[in-house]
Amino acid sequence: MLIRDETMGDIPAISRVVTEALLLLAQATGTEARIVEALRAEDALVLSLVAEEAGEVIGYLAASAARIGTQEGWGLIGPLAVLPSRHRQGIGTALMTEALRRLRATSRGVALVGDPAYYGRFGFRSFPGLGVVGCPPEVVQALPFDATEPRGELIHHRAFGLDQQD
Ligand SMILES: CC(C)(COP(=O)(O)OP(=O)(O)OC[C@H]1O[C@@H](n2cnc3c(N)ncnc32)[C@H](O)[C@@H]1OP(=O)(O)O)[C@@H](O)C(=O)NCCC(=O)NCCS
Repeated sequence: MLIRDETMGDIPAISRVVTEALLLLAQATGTEARIVEALRAEDALVLSLVAEEAGEVIGYLAASAARIGTQEGWGLIGPLAVLPSRHRQGIGTALMTEALRRLRATSRGVALVGDPAYYGRFGFRSFPGLGVVGCPPEVVQALPFDATEPRGELIHHRAFGLDQQD
């Protein structure tokens, strides 16, 4: 398996993997592939990593710039998606490990919204005062790379359509 940056030719496969994987989530909106497209169209993908095996895209991770309260400089991971037939084979871990390695060089830390049972293993945790309006606080998690205490609302790029901008 190879973890690499997306190329133009990967775009249809990325949409397919994201749509198929996210369908498994109760809270999925069905718009996740379109969010990736909107981030790409706005040149807002800080990372767009694919997991490839035998020429096929089997996993995908996007990262974009985010703010927490007044703190700029955070990376936001999402969506992370692995083809359902390939779950629990280490593909998500490989994508996340590479994303954290790269984001460490450019961000003060990384944040995401997701299942703490999965993301805890990478060092993500919730913090008092860190949140997203409308989300249970435990699913909003961060992994600071320095002594920064993330506090405030996790502001996603507008491509996520969360109506958070001030
Ligand atoms: C979540 C997801 C990306 C994980 O990818 P994956 O390649 O299956 O994960 P890995 O094989 O790297 O799993 C690593 C470990 O996490 C565990 N794990 C996987 N999914 C998990 C989940 N949803 N909850 C808890 N643990 C999970 C695995 O059992 C494995 O544990 P082990 O090392 O003790 O065996 C993948 O299951 C997926 O695409 N799910 C649907 C979409 C989704 O939930 N995306 C994330 C939110 S945006």
